[in-house]
Amino acid sequence: MQESQVIATVRGMEILDSRGNPTVSVNMSDGMFTVSAAVPSGASTGKHEALELRDGGKRFGGKGVLKAVQNVNGAIAGAISGFSPLRQTDIDRKMIALDGTPNKASLGANAILGVSMAATRLAAAQKHTELFSYFSGITGSKPLLPVPLLNVINGGVHAGGDLSVQEFLIVPAGFHSLREALTAAAEVYQSLKSELKAKHGASSTNVGDEGGFAPPFKTTTEALGAIRDAIEGAGYLAGKEIFLAIDAASSEFYRDGSYFLDGKRLSVGELTDFYLSIAKDFKLISIEDPFDEESFDDFASLTRLAGKKLQIIGDDIYVTNTARIRKGIELKSSNAVLIKLNQIGTVTETLESTKMTMDAGMAAVVSHRSGETTDTFIADMAVGLANGQIKTGAPARGERVAKYNRLLEIEENHPEIPFPGLSAFRRELAE
Ligand code: PGA
Ligand code: ZN
Repeated sequence: MQESQVIATVRGMEILDSRGNPTVSVNMSDGMFTVSAAVPSGASTGKHEALELRDGGKRFGGKGVLKAVQNVNGAIAGAISGFSPLRQTDIDRKMIALDGTPNKASLGANAILGVSMAATRLAAAQKHTELFSYFSGITGSKPLLPVPLLNVINGGVHAGGDLSVQEFLIVPAGFHSLREALTAAAEVYQSLKSELKAKHGASSTNVGDEGGFAPPFKTTTEALGAIRDAIEGAGYLAGKEIFLAIDAASSEFYRDGSYFLDGKRLSVGELTDFYLSIAKDFKLISIEDPFDEESFDDFASLTRLAGKKLQIIGDDIYVTNTARIRKGIELKSSNAVLIKLNQIGTVTETLESTKMTMDAGMAAVVSHRSGETTDTFIADMAVGLANGQIKTGAPARGERVAKYNRLLEIEENHPEIPFPGLSAFRRELAE
Protein backbone atom coordinates (compact mmCIF):
# COMPACT_ATOMS: atom_id res chain seq x y z
CA MET A 1 0.00 0.00 0.00
CA GLN A 2 1.27 3.45 -0.90
CA GLU A 3 1.98 6.12 1.70
CA SER A 4 -1.30 7.96 2.17
CA GLN A 5 -1.85 11.44 0.84
CA VAL A 6 -2.09 14.39 3.18
CA ILE A 7 -4.93 16.88 3.58
CA ALA A 8 -4.44 19.51 0.90
CA THR A 9 -7.54 21.70 1.09
CA VAL A 10 -10.22 22.33 3.72
CA ARG A 11 -13.16 24.56 2.80
CA GLY A 12 -16.08 25.46 5.03
CA MET A 13 -19.46 26.56 3.69
CA GLU A 14 -22.67 27.83 5.23
CA ILE A 15 -25.61 25.60 4.23
CA LEU A 16 -29.17 25.14 5.54
CA ASP A 17 -30.42 22.50 7.97
CA SER A 18 -33.84 20.83 8.07
CA ARG A 19 -35.33 23.71 10.09
CA GLY A 20 -34.08 26.27 7.58
CA ASN A 21 -31.32 27.46 9.89
CA PRO A 22 -27.72 27.78 8.76
CA THR A 23 -25.18 25.11 9.57
CA VAL A 24 -21.62 24.25 8.60
CA SER A 25 -20.52 21.89 5.85
CA VAL A 26 -16.89 21.11 5.14
CA ASN A 27 -15.21 20.00 1.93
CA MET A 28 -11.87 18.30 2.25
CA SER A 29 -9.46 17.08 -0.42
CA ASP A 30 -6.09 15.35 -0.63
CA GLY A 31 -5.78 16.16 -4.32
CA MET A 32 -7.14 12.75 -5.28
CA PHE A 33 -10.34 12.35 -3.26
CA THR A 34 -12.76 15.10 -2.25
CA VAL A 35 -15.30 14.47 0.51
CA SER A 36 -17.76 16.57 2.47
CA ALA A 37 -19.55 16.45 5.81
CA ALA A 38 -22.38 18.48 7.34
CA VAL A 39 -22.98 19.33 10.99
CA PRO A 40 -26.38 18.88 12.72
CA SER A 41 -27.95 21.17 15.35
CA GLY A 42 -30.19 20.54 18.38
CA ALA A 43 -33.17 22.44 19.82
CA SER A 44 -33.44 20.89 23.30
CA THR A 45 -29.72 21.26 23.83
CA GLY A 46 -28.01 20.26 27.06
CA LYS A 47 -26.48 23.04 29.15
CA HIS A 48 -23.08 21.33 29.07
CA GLU A 49 -22.86 20.74 25.32
CA ALA A 50 -19.91 22.03 23.32
CA LEU A 51 -20.63 25.48 21.94
CA GLU A 52 -22.22 25.94 18.54
CA LEU A 53 -20.73 29.18 17.24
CA ARG A 54 -23.36 31.57 15.85
CA ASP A 55 -22.68 35.00 14.35
CA GLY A 56 -25.28 37.10 16.17
CA GLY A 57 -26.52 40.27 14.50
CA LYS A 58 -29.40 40.53 12.03
CA ARG A 59 -28.50 37.97 9.41
CA PHE A 60 -30.49 34.70 9.88
CA GLY A 61 -31.80 36.16 13.14
CA GLY A 62 -28.31 35.88 14.61
CA LYS A 63 -27.95 32.20 13.66
CA GLY A 64 -25.46 32.65 10.81
CA VAL A 65 -22.33 30.47 10.94
CA LEU A 66 -19.94 32.59 8.87
CA LYS A 67 -17.56 32.99 11.80
CA ALA A 68 -17.39 29.20 12.15
CA VAL A 69 -16.82 28.89 8.40
CA GLN A 70 -14.09 31.51 8.69
CA ASN A 71 -12.47 29.45 11.44
CA VAL A 72 -12.54 26.36 9.21
CA ASN A 73 -10.98 28.21 6.27
CA GLY A 74 -8.45 30.10 8.36
CA ALA A 75 -7.06 28.78 11.63
CA ILE A 76 -8.18 25.15 11.30
CA ALA A 77 -7.18 24.68 7.65
CA GLY A 78 -3.80 26.20 8.48
CA ALA A 79 -3.28 23.88 11.43
CA ILE A 80 -4.27 20.54 9.89
CA SER A 81 -3.22 20.86 6.25
CA GLY A 82 -0.37 18.45 5.67
CA PHE A 83 -1.74 15.85 8.14
CA SER A 84 -2.67 12.44 6.87
CA PRO A 85 -6.43 12.04 7.46
CA LEU A 86 -5.63 8.63 8.91
CA ARG A 87 -4.30 10.49 11.96
CA GLN A 88 -7.82 11.24 13.26
CA THR A 89 -6.77 11.55 16.89
CA ASP A 90 -3.91 13.92 16.10
CA ILE A 91 -6.14 16.07 13.90
CA ASP A 92 -8.84 16.27 16.57
CA ARG A 93 -6.34 16.94 19.38
CA LYS A 94 -4.72 19.65 17.29
CA MET A 95 -8.09 21.40 16.83
CA ILE A 96 -8.94 21.02 20.53
CA ALA A 97 -5.57 22.58 21.47
CA LEU A 98 -5.98 25.35 18.92
CA ASP A 99 -9.40 26.17 20.35
CA GLY A 100 -8.04 26.14 23.88
CA THR A 101 -11.39 26.28 25.72
CA PRO A 102 -13.16 23.43 27.56
CA ASN A 103 -16.27 23.69 25.37
CA LYS A 104 -14.82 24.65 21.97
CA ALA A 105 -16.15 28.16 22.39
CA SER A 106 -13.46 29.98 20.46
CA LEU A 107 -13.45 28.08 17.15
CA GLY A 108 -16.96 26.61 17.58
CA ALA A 109 -17.85 22.93 17.90
CA ASN A 110 -19.70 23.26 14.59
CA ALA A 111 -16.47 24.30 12.84
CA ILE A 112 -14.35 21.64 14.54
CA LEU A 113 -16.84 18.79 14.05
CA GLY A 114 -17.32 19.45 10.33
CA VAL A 115 -13.57 19.10 9.82
CA SER A 116 -13.33 16.08 12.09
CA MET A 117 -16.09 14.22 10.21
CA ALA A 118 -14.65 15.15 6.82
CA ALA A 119 -11.26 13.78 7.90
CA THR A 120 -12.85 10.42 8.78
CA ARG A 121 -14.51 10.30 5.36
CA LEU A 122 -11.31 11.20 3.56
CA ALA A 123 -9.45 8.49 5.45
CA ALA A 124 -12.08 5.92 4.43
CA ALA A 125 -11.82 7.07 0.82
CA GLN A 126 -8.04 6.70 0.88
CA LYS A 127 -8.40 3.20 2.26
CA HIS A 128 -10.94 2.39 -0.50
CA THR A 129 -13.32 1.25 2.18
CA GLU A 130 -16.85 2.18 3.17
CA LEU A 131 -17.21 4.55 6.11
CA PHE A 132 -18.76 1.91 8.40
CA SER A 133 -15.94 -0.47 7.65
CA TYR A 134 -13.35 2.22 8.37
CA PHE A 135 -15.04 2.85 11.74
CA SER A 136 -15.03 -0.83 12.54
CA GLY A 137 -11.31 -0.90 11.74
CA ILE A 138 -10.70 1.93 14.24
CA THR A 139 -12.77 0.38 17.01
CA GLY A 140 -11.93 -3.25 16.34
CA SER A 141 -15.65 -4.13 16.50
CA LYS A 142 -17.36 -6.43 14.04
CA PRO A 143 -19.95 -4.39 12.09
CA LEU A 144 -23.51 -4.65 13.45
CA LEU A 145 -26.69 -3.08 12.12
CA PRO A 146 -28.51 -0.93 14.70
CA VAL A 147 -32.09 -1.36 15.88
CA PRO A 148 -33.84 1.91 15.00
CA LEU A 149 -35.75 4.04 17.53
CA LEU A 150 -38.23 5.98 15.38
CA ASN A 151 -39.93 9.11 16.62
CA VAL A 152 -43.56 9.03 15.45
CA ILE A 153 -45.19 11.69 17.66
CA ASN A 154 -43.33 14.95 18.30
CA GLY A 155 -43.95 17.07 21.39
CA GLY A 156 -41.96 19.43 23.60
CA VAL A 157 -39.89 22.00 21.74
CA HIS A 158 -40.02 19.94 18.52
CA ALA A 159 -43.68 20.71 17.85
CA GLY A 160 -46.26 23.41 18.49
CA GLY A 161 -48.66 21.34 20.62
CA ASP A 162 -49.34 20.79 24.33
CA LEU A 163 -47.44 17.52 24.88
CA SER A 164 -44.64 17.96 27.42
CA VAL A 165 -42.80 14.79 26.47
CA GLN A 166 -40.63 15.53 23.45
CA GLU A 167 -40.52 12.20 21.63
CA PHE A 168 -42.80 9.17 21.35
CA LEU A 169 -40.88 6.41 19.64
CA ILE A 170 -41.48 2.98 18.20
CA VAL A 171 -38.74 0.39 18.44
CA PRO A 172 -39.12 -2.53 16.00
CA ALA A 173 -36.77 -4.84 17.88
CA GLY A 174 -38.69 -8.09 17.39
CA PHE A 175 -37.56 -8.73 13.82
CA HIS A 176 -34.74 -10.58 12.13
CA SER A 177 -33.54 -7.91 9.73
CA LEU A 178 -33.39 -4.16 9.47
CA ARG A 179 -35.55 -4.29 6.35
CA GLU A 180 -38.32 -6.14 8.20
CA ALA A 181 -37.98 -3.77 11.13
CA LEU A 182 -38.21 -0.64 8.99
CA THR A 183 -41.07 -2.06 6.94
CA ALA A 184 -43.04 -2.64 10.12
CA ALA A 185 -42.14 0.83 11.44
CA ALA A 186 -43.24 2.55 8.24
CA GLU A 187 -46.50 0.58 8.25
CA VAL A 188 -47.17 1.66 11.83
CA TYR A 189 -46.37 5.27 10.91
CA GLN A 190 -48.99 5.11 8.12
CA SER A 191 -51.46 3.33 10.39
CA LEU A 192 -50.99 6.09 12.98
CA LYS A 193 -51.53 8.72 10.29
CA SER A 194 -54.85 7.15 9.20
CA GLU A 195 -55.98 6.76 12.79
CA LEU A 196 -55.15 10.38 13.65
CA LYS A 197 -56.84 11.66 10.53
CA ALA A 198 -60.00 9.65 11.20
CA LYS A 199 -60.25 10.69 14.85
CA HIS A 200 -58.81 14.20 14.92
CA GLY A 201 -58.92 15.52 11.36
CA ALA A 202 -56.24 15.98 8.73
CA SER A 203 -54.46 18.79 10.60
CA SER A 204 -53.51 16.31 13.33
CA THR A 205 -51.13 14.65 10.87
CA ASN A 206 -48.95 17.75 10.48
CA VAL A 207 -45.43 16.85 11.43
CA GLY A 208 -42.85 18.24 13.86
CA ASP A 209 -39.09 18.74 13.53
CA GLU A 210 -38.19 15.06 13.44
CA GLY A 211 -40.98 13.96 11.12
CA GLY A 212 -43.32 12.58 13.80
CA PHE A 213 -46.94 13.74 13.86
CA ALA A 214 -47.93 16.66 16.06
CA PRO A 215 -51.55 15.90 17.00
CA PRO A 216 -53.57 18.07 19.41
CA PHE A 217 -53.03 15.65 22.31
CA LYS A 218 -52.84 16.94 25.85
CA THR A 219 -51.36 13.97 27.67
CA THR A 220 -48.52 11.47 27.45
CA THR A 221 -50.90 8.53 27.87
CA GLU A 222 -53.12 9.72 25.04
CA ALA A 223 -50.11 9.72 22.70
CA LEU A 224 -48.87 6.32 23.88
CA GLY A 225 -52.37 4.87 23.52
CA ALA A 226 -52.68 6.13 19.94
CA ILE A 227 -49.33 4.57 19.02
CA ARG A 228 -50.26 1.25 20.61
CA ASP A 229 -53.51 1.27 18.62
CA ALA A 230 -51.55 2.05 15.46
CA ILE A 231 -49.17 -0.87 16.08
CA GLU A 232 -52.10 -3.22 16.51
CA GLY A 233 -53.96 -1.60 13.61
CA ALA A 234 -51.01 -2.41 11.37
CA GLY A 235 -51.18 -6.04 12.51
CA TYR A 236 -48.16 -6.11 14.83
CA LEU A 237 -47.78 -7.08 18.44
CA ALA A 238 -47.05 -4.17 20.77
CA GLY A 239 -44.47 -5.12 23.37
CA LYS A 240 -43.32 -8.16 21.40
CA GLU A 241 -42.47 -7.10 17.88
CA ILE A 242 -42.70 -3.35 18.21
CA PHE A 243 -41.99 -1.62 21.51
CA LEU A 244 -42.81 1.87 22.71
CA ALA A 245 -40.30 4.35 24.09
CA ILE A 246 -40.15 8.01 25.08
CA ASP A 247 -37.61 10.80 25.27
CA ALA A 248 -39.05 13.05 27.98
CA ALA A 249 -36.30 15.67 27.47
CA SER A 250 -37.46 16.72 30.91
CA SER A 251 -34.97 19.57 31.44
CA GLU A 252 -37.37 21.46 29.17
CA PHE A 253 -40.26 21.14 31.66
CA TYR A 254 -38.28 21.33 34.90
CA ARG A 255 -38.37 24.45 37.06
CA ASP A 256 -37.21 24.99 40.65
CA GLY A 257 -37.47 21.39 41.78
CA SER A 258 -40.77 20.61 40.01
CA TYR A 259 -41.71 19.05 36.71
CA PHE A 260 -44.55 20.68 34.77
CA LEU A 261 -45.86 17.70 32.82
CA ASP A 262 -49.05 17.87 30.74
CA GLY A 263 -50.42 20.80 32.74
CA LYS A 264 -49.64 19.26 36.16
CA ARG A 265 -46.92 20.13 38.63
CA LEU A 266 -45.12 16.97 39.77
CA SER A 267 -42.46 16.26 42.38
CA VAL A 268 -39.57 13.91 41.57
CA GLY A 269 -41.38 11.11 43.41
CA GLU A 270 -44.65 11.69 41.56
CA LEU A 271 -42.85 11.80 38.23
CA THR A 272 -41.02 8.58 39.09
CA ASP A 273 -44.35 6.88 39.88
CA PHE A 274 -45.75 8.17 36.62
CA TYR A 275 -42.84 6.70 34.63
CA LEU A 276 -43.21 3.36 36.42
CA SER A 277 -46.91 3.25 35.65
CA ILE A 278 -46.59 4.06 31.93
CA ALA A 279 -43.63 1.68 31.62
CA LYS A 280 -45.90 -1.09 32.91
CA ASP A 281 -49.10 -0.11 31.09
CA PHE A 282 -47.45 0.42 27.71
CA LYS A 283 -44.58 -2.06 28.07
CA LEU A 284 -42.04 0.67 27.40
CA ILE A 285 -38.60 -0.52 26.37
CA SER A 286 -36.76 2.77 26.90
CA ILE A 287 -37.08 6.14 28.64
CA GLU A 288 -34.65 8.94 27.82
CA ASP A 289 -33.90 11.96 30.03
CA PRO A 290 -36.55 11.21 32.66
CA PHE A 291 -35.12 13.92 34.92
CA ASP A 292 -33.33 17.24 34.66
CA GLU A 293 -29.79 17.34 33.30
CA GLU A 294 -28.17 17.79 36.74
CA SER A 295 -30.19 15.07 38.53
CA PHE A 296 -27.69 12.19 38.62
CA ASP A 297 -29.25 10.84 41.83
CA ASP A 298 -32.85 10.89 40.62
CA PHE A 299 -31.72 9.07 37.47
CA ALA A 300 -29.98 6.52 39.73
CA SER A 301 -33.14 5.93 41.80
CA LEU A 302 -35.22 5.21 38.71
CA THR A 303 -32.48 2.96 37.32
CA ARG A 304 -32.40 1.08 40.61
CA LEU A 305 -36.18 0.67 40.58
CA ALA A 306 -36.73 -0.14 36.91
CA GLY A 307 -33.38 -0.52 35.17
CA LYS A 308 -33.49 -4.29 34.95
CA LYS A 309 -36.36 -4.29 32.53
CA LEU A 310 -36.23 -0.77 31.19
CA GLN A 311 -33.55 1.03 29.22
CA ILE A 312 -32.88 4.40 30.84
CA ILE A 313 -30.94 6.69 28.51
CA GLY A 314 -29.07 9.82 29.54
CA ASP A 315 -28.80 12.50 26.88
CA ASP A 316 -28.68 16.09 28.20
CA ILE A 317 -27.23 14.80 31.48
CA TYR A 318 -24.11 13.36 29.76
CA VAL A 319 -23.84 15.41 26.54
CA THR A 320 -21.51 12.71 25.10
CA ASN A 321 -18.84 13.99 27.53
CA THR A 322 -16.60 11.38 29.19
CA ALA A 323 -16.32 13.37 32.45
CA ARG A 324 -20.11 13.34 32.84
CA ILE A 325 -20.52 9.74 31.61
CA ARG A 326 -17.88 8.67 34.16
CA LYS A 327 -19.93 10.30 36.92
CA GLY A 328 -23.04 8.50 35.64
CA ILE A 329 -21.20 5.17 35.69
CA GLU A 330 -20.00 5.75 39.26
CA LEU A 331 -23.45 6.74 40.50
CA LYS A 332 -25.21 4.08 38.35
CA SER A 333 -27.43 6.85 37.02
CA SER A 334 -28.59 5.03 33.89
CA ASN A 335 -28.01 1.91 31.85
CA ALA A 336 -27.68 3.67 28.50
CA VAL A 337 -26.09 6.78 27.00
CA LEU A 338 -27.16 8.80 23.97
CA ILE A 339 -24.26 9.53 21.62
CA LYS A 340 -24.35 12.75 19.60
CA LEU A 341 -21.26 13.93 17.70
CA ASN A 342 -22.01 17.62 17.98
CA GLN A 343 -22.58 17.57 21.74
CA ILE A 344 -18.85 17.00 22.18
CA GLY A 345 -17.50 18.20 18.84
CA THR A 346 -14.97 15.68 17.49
CA VAL A 347 -15.09 12.13 16.15
CA THR A 348 -12.26 11.10 18.51
CA GLU A 349 -14.10 12.23 21.64
CA THR A 350 -17.34 10.63 20.39
CA LEU A 351 -15.51 7.31 20.02
CA GLU A 352 -14.06 7.69 23.52
CA SER A 353 -17.52 8.32 24.99
CA THR A 354 -18.99 5.34 23.17
CA LYS A 355 -16.15 3.09 24.31
CA MET A 356 -16.45 4.22 27.92
CA THR A 357 -20.21 3.55 27.79
CA MET A 358 -19.94 0.11 26.24
CA ASP A 359 -16.98 -0.94 28.42
CA ALA A 360 -19.13 -0.14 31.45
CA GLY A 361 -21.78 -2.56 30.18
CA MET A 362 -24.21 0.20 29.23
CA ALA A 363 -25.96 0.57 25.90
CA ALA A 364 -24.81 3.35 23.59
CA VAL A 365 -27.51 4.82 21.32
CA VAL A 366 -26.18 6.80 18.35
CA SER A 367 -28.44 9.79 17.66
CA HIS A 368 -29.28 12.49 15.13
CA ARG A 369 -30.29 16.03 16.16
CA SER A 370 -33.64 17.71 15.61
CA GLY A 371 -31.92 20.01 13.10
CA GLU A 372 -30.35 17.72 10.50
CA THR A 373 -29.02 17.53 6.97
CA THR A 374 -29.03 14.62 4.54
CA ASP A 375 -25.55 13.61 5.69
CA THR A 376 -25.64 9.91 6.59
CA PHE A 377 -22.45 9.84 8.68
CA ILE A 378 -24.17 8.52 11.83
CA ALA A 379 -25.65 5.53 9.98
CA ASP A 380 -22.19 4.27 9.07
CA MET A 381 -20.83 5.25 12.47
CA ALA A 382 -23.42 3.12 14.26
CA VAL A 383 -22.71 0.08 12.08
CA GLY A 384 -18.95 0.44 12.57
CA LEU A 385 -19.18 1.05 16.31
CA ALA A 386 -21.49 -1.96 16.60
CA ASN A 387 -23.38 -0.24 19.42
CA GLY A 388 -26.67 -1.80 18.28
CA GLN A 389 -29.11 1.13 18.41
CA ILE A 390 -29.76 4.31 16.41
CA LYS A 391 -32.30 7.09 16.97
CA THR A 392 -32.81 9.10 13.82
CA GLY A 393 -36.40 10.30 13.62
CA ALA A 394 -39.57 9.24 11.87
CA PRO A 395 -39.60 7.00 8.80
CA ALA A 396 -40.40 10.21 6.88
CA ARG A 397 -38.69 13.46 5.75
CA GLY A 398 -35.56 13.41 3.65
CA GLU A 399 -33.02 14.20 6.37
CA ARG A 400 -34.38 11.34 8.52
CA VAL A 401 -34.89 8.67 5.84
CA ALA A 402 -31.45 9.41 4.38
CA LYS A 403 -29.98 7.64 7.42
CA TYR A 404 -32.45 4.73 7.36
CA ASN A 405 -31.95 4.30 3.60
CA ARG A 406 -28.18 4.22 4.05
CA LEU A 407 -28.64 1.47 6.64
CA LEU A 408 -30.86 -0.47 4.21
CA GLU A 409 -28.15 -0.10 1.58
CA ILE A 410 -25.49 -1.43 3.94
CA GLU A 411 -27.72 -4.39 4.82
CA GLU A 412 -28.48 -5.09 1.16
CA ASN A 413 -24.83 -5.01 0.11
CA HIS A 414 -23.49 -6.79 3.17
CA PRO A 415 -25.91 -9.55 4.14
CA GLU A 416 -23.25 -10.94 6.48
CA ILE A 417 -23.73 -8.01 8.89
CA PRO A 418 -26.17 -9.11 11.60
CA PHE A 419 -29.23 -7.23 12.91
CA PRO A 420 -29.30 -7.66 16.70
CA GLY A 421 -33.03 -7.25 17.39
CA LEU A 422 -33.83 -7.46 21.08
CA SER A 423 -30.31 -8.54 21.99
CA ALA A 424 -29.24 -4.89 21.53
CA PHE A 425 -31.22 -4.20 24.70
CA ARG A 426 -30.78 -5.44 28.24
CA ARG A 427 -30.95 -9.18 28.49
CA GLU A 428 -33.91 -9.21 30.88
CA LEU A 429 -36.04 -7.51 28.22
CA ALA A 430 -35.80 -10.48 25.94
CA GLU A 431 -37.25 -12.83 28.57
P1 PGA B 1 -32.39 17.85 20.02
O1 PGA B 1 -33.35 16.64 20.33
O2 PGA B 1 -31.57 17.50 18.85
O3 PGA B 1 -33.32 19.01 19.80
O4 PGA B 1 -31.54 18.03 21.27
C1 PGA B 1 -32.95 15.31 20.29
C2 PGA B 1 -32.94 14.68 21.66
O5 PGA B 1 -33.23 15.33 22.68
O6 PGA B 1 -32.61 13.49 21.78
ZN1 ZN C 1 -32.93 13.52 24.07
